Amino acid sequence: MKFFLDTANISQIETAQNLGIIDGVTTNPSLMAKEGIKGDENVFNHYKKICSIVDGDVSAEVISTDFEGMIGEAEKLASLHPQIVVKIPVISEGIRAIKHLTSMGIRTNCTLVFNTGQALLAAKAGATYVSPFIGRLDDIGENGIELIEKLVDLFNYYGYETQVLAASIRHTNHIIKCMEAGADVATCPLDPILGLLNHPLTDAGLEKFLSDHRKLNA
Ligand code: E4P
Repeated sequence: MKFFLDTANISQIETAQNLGIIDGVTTNPSLMAKEGIKGDENVFNHYKKICSIVDGDVSAEVISTDFEGMIGEAEKLASLHPQIVVKIPVISEGIRAIKHLTSMGIRTNCTLVFNTGQALLAAKAGATYVSPFIGRLDDIGENGIELIEKLVDLFNYYGYETQVLAASIRHTNHIIKCMEAGADVATCPLDPILGLLNHPLTDAGLEKFLSDHRKLNA
């Protein structure tokens, strides 16, 4: 399973890149706003900076909701760097845009997906990735991981090449469950990724190894 870092924060992206375990980055307008990145030129430069830090795909989201606007934005974003994948919301104009961009060779990440029907349309339009938001489903009492399981099975059954990119991940157990469900990618904040390292037996075992070594070599 690939790991994308779900942030626009440069310091966190550098930290994860230095660990050597991330395969890309996803952003959205809220994450860009959280970093105070505003104005087209600043936004474009920020995406370029992220691409210079990581090796893999970097999702950059359009703001337009009409077909022409999305296409114009997508062409600009894709021209910034070969690593850019254009994030498009799963609305009717977005599905049209994904179909068109796919035919132009521009890769897309269909976002704000909450059920199999939306994911089916994204896959049929040729999206590179489909992003089911599992945390937001859990927030309203549904089961986000079940959606990942269904999409992995259905895409395999029908042979869709669209990759299942589990998004809106809230905690470390979400990552484990996405891996068990066979998600192609999980995009996560840094903390849940670092949480994968935690186990009390690791801490206790390491402390014992080091104290035994210290006793003998004192
Ligand atoms: C990433 O592609 C999504 O935009 C992001 O995971 C949404 O996460 P949230 O539900 O925590 O805002």
